[in-house]
Amino acid sequence: MIKPHGSDELNPLYVEDEQKRAALLAEAEALPSLLLNSAAAANAVMLAGGYFNPLTGYMNLADALSAAEKMHTVDGLFFPVPIVNLTNDTGVTAGSRIALRDPNVEGHPVLAVMDVEAVEAVSDEQIAFMAEKIFRTLDEKHPGVATFTGLGQTLLSGPIEVLNFSYFKTDFPDTFRTAVEIRDEIAANGWEKVVAFQTRNPMHRAHEELCRMAMEQLDADGILIHMLLGKLKPGDIPADVRDAAIRKMVEVYFPPNTVMVTGYGFDMLYAGPREAVLHAVFRQNCGCTHLIVGRDHAGVGDYYGGFDAQTIFDEEVPEDALELEIFSADHTAYSKKLNKVVMMRDVPDHTPDDFVLLSGTAVREMLGKGIAPPPEFSRPEVARILSDYYQSLDAG
Ligand code: ADX
Repeated sequence: MIKPHGSDELNPLYVEDEQKRAALLAEAEALPSLLLNSAAAANAVMLAGGYFNPLTGYMNLADALSAAEKMHTVDGLFFPVPIVNLTNDTGVTAGSRIALRDPNVEGHPVLAVMDVEAVEAVSDEQIAFMAEKIFRTLDEKHPGVATFTGLGQTLLSGPIEVLNFSYFKTDFPDTFRTAVEIRDEIAANGWEKVVAFQTRNPMHRAHEELCRMAMEQLDADGILIHMLLGKLKPGDIPADVRDAAIRKMVEVYFPPNTVMVTGYGFDMLYAGPREAVLHAVFRQNCGCTHLIVGRDHAGVGDYYGGFDAQTIFDEEVPEDALELEIFSADHTAYSKKLNKVVMMRDVPDHTPDDFVLLSGTAVREMLGKGIAPPPEFSRPEVARILSDYYQSLDAG
């Protein structure tokens, strides 16, 4: 099986041993507390599940700046995004042990225990430097930039031990999986070649066929549909609705035992190319050999070129940085001429009118009115679930 990123074995930071976990929880009640922001809490959940292997905690300032600038920590570990605990709380001291509390669960229970190795002030310039490198823009209208620049300017670094998976295991028991669990399931299925499909949207025909094309062209054993379960920008579709729509699509349209429908607990960064590289890192940690990267992967608005998330792998990711490979997909849509979903690069004779192309806004409007998008665009079973959701919104 493909090795994890940066080490031979996966090193999840969740404390598996029940007694040890109980002892840490008891200890944490007496420790000074820090209420995390959602981004730092999501980092802890990812570290807990082995997704951010081989990191052992939050990066210090030198590593964060270095990861932002050149996708490597100071010691040369390939990591495309700083994994940080930025806060406004200036009361924490270096050398202390603290309890990290969960902002996303009622009562703010302890999520993790941290040994604070360093407490560093981050200047406005350093925040802007990192944001510009990660997001390629400093526009505050970019949802990722707005979040990142508002996290705080005190950076706490050091190892963590994680005590639970926040709200993800309770809210999405059938779908949330750690990288460890996914690796185990891939091994149990006897799969060697596994393609990951990243998604934060419901899956329409184009997404479905992308998965099928990747499976066929790579001669893969299986596909991991891996959806983001954390926070999104307003207007994006909630995880439970996407989950239901995706599960229905898989049930009806894919052969049994070829697809794993799973999710991970992270907030969307909307960092386009950099997030695509992060996606590749953590899919390798899950045991996948390939990741589909299509049009405007992890993008938002017009901040990124349609295929920037592919070119970054050719231009900026060193050859030996990752074992996982990218399956680069061109814009995919239903061809009225050929009566099937195709990649545009495969049909050079087509004009735009030959495709069924609908904007997100148009689809949302149709679904809100209870009108199903054409079956060439959306499977009727998927359209029904989305339509029920939009109509419930409009009714409320
Ligand atoms: S993402 O933010 O998670 O990337 P989304 O769920 O919409 O958003 O996309 C999932 C994957 O499908 C990404 O790799 C994206 O590039 C790809 N994709 C989505 N729609 C298309 C399309 N019409 N053509 C090609 N690739 C697409």
